[in-house]
Parts: sequence; C-alpha cells; structure tokens
Amino acid sequence: MDFCNKVVVITGASSGIGASAAILFANQSAKVVLVGRNETGLNEVATKCEQAKGQKPLIIKAELSIDEDVKKIIDNTIEVFGRIDVLVNNAGVGIRGGIRDGVELYDRAMNTNMRPAYLLTSLAVPYLINSKGNVVNVSSVAGMRPIRDVDFLPYCISKAALDQFTRCLAMELGPQGVRVNSVNPGGTKTAFVENAGFSKAQMEELYDARDKTLPLRKMTQSDEVADLILYLASDRARSITGSIYVIDNGEMWM
Ligand SMILES: NC(=O)c1ccc[n+]([C@@H]2O[C@H](COP(=O)([O-])OP(=O)(O)OC[C@H]3O[C@@H](n4cnc5c(N)ncnc54)[C@H](OP(=O)(O)O)[C@@H]3O)[C@@H](O)[C@H]2O)c1
Repeated sequence: MDFCNKVVVITGASSGIGASAAILFANQSAKVVLVGRNETGLNEVATKCEQAKGQKPLIIKAELSIDEDVKKIIDNTIEVFGRIDVLVNNAGVGIRGGIRDGVELYDRAMNTNMRPAYLLTSLAVPYLINSKGNVVNVSSVAGMRPIRDVDFLPYCISKAALDQFTRCLAMELGPQGVRVNSVNPGGTKTAFVENAGFSKAQMEELYDARDKTLPLRKMTQSDEVADLILYLASDRARSITGSIYVIDNGEMWM
C-alpha cells in the first residue's frame, strides 16, 4: 500500500488512533497533515512520522469546534502540499450523560464528533474530487448499538449521525470518484476513557473486564484500528464505499 506523493489529513492526530494512523501512513510514504490541540503530542507524533521516510509532516493546531480553525486546516494544507488525497475524520471525545443531564451535552457531542467532520469534509470535497481521493470517518460501535451500564447517550447519537453521514456522502460523491467509509472500533486502549471523565481506577476496571469477557479475550489496540483505516484509504479498497467496518474483538454481539 504505497501512499507516495499522497497527502493525508488526519484529525485527532496528537494521540491514540489518530497518532497510530499518522505514523502508519508516514511509513507508507504519505505526506501527512497532523491536526490536534495538544502541541506536545503533535510534535511527538511528527517526529515519529519524519523518522519513517524523512518526510516532514505539516502540523496544524486547531480546535475543531471553531469554524475558523477548521477552515485553516484546508487552507494551510493546500498552501503547503497543494492537494488532498485522503481525509481521516478521527477526532472525537466521549461525552457521558443521559436524557436528564441537559441538552448541552448533546451540543458538545455534536459540535466535536459530528459538525467538524461535516464542515471539514465539505471544504475538502473539491480537492478530493480532483485527486479521486477518499474519506475515512472514525466512528464507534456506540453509533450502532446502545452502550450498557453507563449513560453515553450524546456520544452514541453523535456517532450514529456520523455513520449516516458516511453512507449518504458515499452516494453523493461516488459518481465523482470519491469513496467514503467508516471504521467503527469497540473499546480501544487510548486516552479516550480518561478524556471521557473516567478515573484511572474505573479505566483499569473497564479494561480488565473487557480483556476477560470479550469473545477474543482482549481489547483492540490503536495500531490495529490504524491498519484498517490505511486499508480503506488505499487503492486495495477501490470497490468499497459507504461501508461501516467494525473492529471490536466481537464486542458488538455480546
Ligand atoms: N478508544 C476507544 O475506546 C474508542 C472506541 C470507539 C471509537 N473511538 C473513536 O476513535 C477516535 C479517536 O479516539 P482515541 O481513542 O484515539 O482517543 P484519544 O486518544 O482521546 O484521541 C482523541 C483525539 O481527538 C482530538 N480532539 C478531541 N476533541 C477535539 C477538539 N475539540 N478539537 C480538536 N481535536 C480534538 C484530540 O486532540 P488533543 O488531544 O490534541 O486535544 C485527540 O487527538 C474518536 O473519534 C473516538 O470517538 C474510540
């Protein structure tokens, strides 16, 4: 899977799945654009990307709930690299809560997990049509079924919306040669759980339970999710569009 001369924009590239994907794309000779807020994380990932094939990544610090920041991602990418071949809408945050916890949680979930993907993709579309490129959205099994034992309503809704975005956009852009797919992980070992407001002890309990009870008796690793993203973004997946790929060690069917 050679990404030589291909420009790959990855949101949420400062940690977890996005960081693993960025390093994997860089290893396949891609020119990567790293988007995130945490500068230390972005710089660490950039160093690893550069070590892969000597290609310096473009770092763009952006708060995705601010439209101007989102616009800056496309403007800076085009200024530096002149094209976009792959857009990975990966950034996201786990928002806990139920229906009685206020509509603000819904707004936060949509404004982080859905709206930036919509806006960023809309701005990238002319370039993706030019390059016959593709989009990979990072959603979740939480978009496909409710999460048991913990209130996660706003997050689940935002990821369900992202899945429908994937399907509808694939229909809209297919005739222009642009593919759109989704990778939907189950529990994956990243900073996600802590960023969703769980304590370290709760996180360890959750990981331990999943390692013991998932059908494959292990949790997903971020580089495994990155492998799937890379595959879908590559020419090997040239007949795949509008598809939702679950990677979860069997969690969906428990
Ligand atoms: N880990 C899991 O169990 C799991 C399961 C299913 C789906 N997912 C999905 O996988 C994706 C990646 O998550 P992860 O597991 O890799 O978690 P993570 O390590 O917490 O990474 C989340 C990334 O999103 C970025 N981000 C979050 N809010 C942002 C905002 N407002 N503006 C800009 N960047 C923002 C973060 O950037 P900064 O750190 O720089 O702020 C970070 O790079 C998410 O969409 C998540 O919903 C994760």
